[in-house]
Amino acid sequence: MSVQACDLRDDDRRPPANELLEIVQRGLRSQPKRLPSWLFYDERGSELFERICEQPEYYLTRCEIALMDVHAAGIADALGADVRLVEYGSGNAVKTRMLLEHLASPAAYVPVEISAEPLRQSVQRLGERFPQVPMQPLCADFTRALRLPIPPRAPRRTVVYFPGSTIGNFEARDAVALLRKMRGEMGDNGGVLIGVDLKKDTALLEAAYNDAAGVTAEFTLNLLVRLNRELGSDFDLSGFRHRAHYNPMAGRIETSLVSTRAQQARVGRMLARFAEGEAMQVEYSCKYTLDDFAALAGRAGLEVRRVWTDPERMFSVQYLVRAGAPGR
Ligand code: AVI
Repeated sequence: MSVQACDLRDDDRRPPANELLEIVQRGLRSQPKRLPSWLFYDERGSELFERICEQPEYYLTRCEIALMDVHAAGIADALGADVRLVEYGSGNAVKTRMLLEHLASPAAYVPVEISAEPLRQSVQRLGERFPQVPMQPLCADFTRALRLPIPPRAPRRTVVYFPGSTIGNFEARDAVALLRKMRGEMGDNGGVLIGVDLKKDTALLEAAYNDAAGVTAEFTLNLLVRLNRELGSDFDLSGFRHRAHYNPMAGRIETSLVSTRAQQARVGRMLARFAEGEAMQVEYSCKYTLDDFAALAGRAGLEVRRVWTDPERMFSVQYLVRAGAPGR
């Protein structure tokens, strides 16, 4: 199916520049300073993230693909036939392909992505490979309420697919709210298929977020490049460095931009002052045990029906259904 032939639904609610300025100024006023991690993903940030996924230390992508390689058929079997697959994100080429290869007569594929161009490209590619699958791309922020397009035929169930352990970038309260939103969207007999990174040795975790080639460091610093471009701020990149360390109490990698000297930056009318060594929090990447994640899902009214892991048990893909739902 050609992309021209499919309707790119536009629910785009990306914040306009004045809202972005407010969000950033609020983050710079908070103590400690913090900025939301979605700010990483401008065009350059998305490219850098793709390169991170290729770094030898970044095991998440490699392990999730290895897992899908072994289990995609079993996962498709657990989801059943005639599924409407709603993916949060623009369709990870490899993993989505592996899943669609095995799904029996999917009723529709609905990728939900805030940036129109990556969405269009991914649907183009997948549409060429799976011409029999109706593609219903939705240009929207998946953290907000979605108006899902009406499927061309009635699906047996709706499954929300959220690979990559992106759920780990949400703090517990926000992760629960997002899972609860998925629960609403999937309906009574639907499900959530979600990638969840597992707790492991601190050295392995920290290496994944401090790759030797410096791609993650560039990805983190690119956030300031973006602010300078979009808000006209004057952050001096040479005065900040990337830091990522594992906080075992909180069970998460905490990434910050550390000011290497006392300095200030103008952001709109605001003058943000940084002390030497001051850390500005920019990302959490939460890691879970299977019990941790089952408890988190339980807070959203979901229960874990199946868990698959890669051979090294580094990463998991989990199938969640409504708590108390009967077996299929
Ligand atoms: C998208 N997300 C799951 C990545 C992660 O591992 O938290 C983003 C990332 N940040 C630094 N490296 C990768």
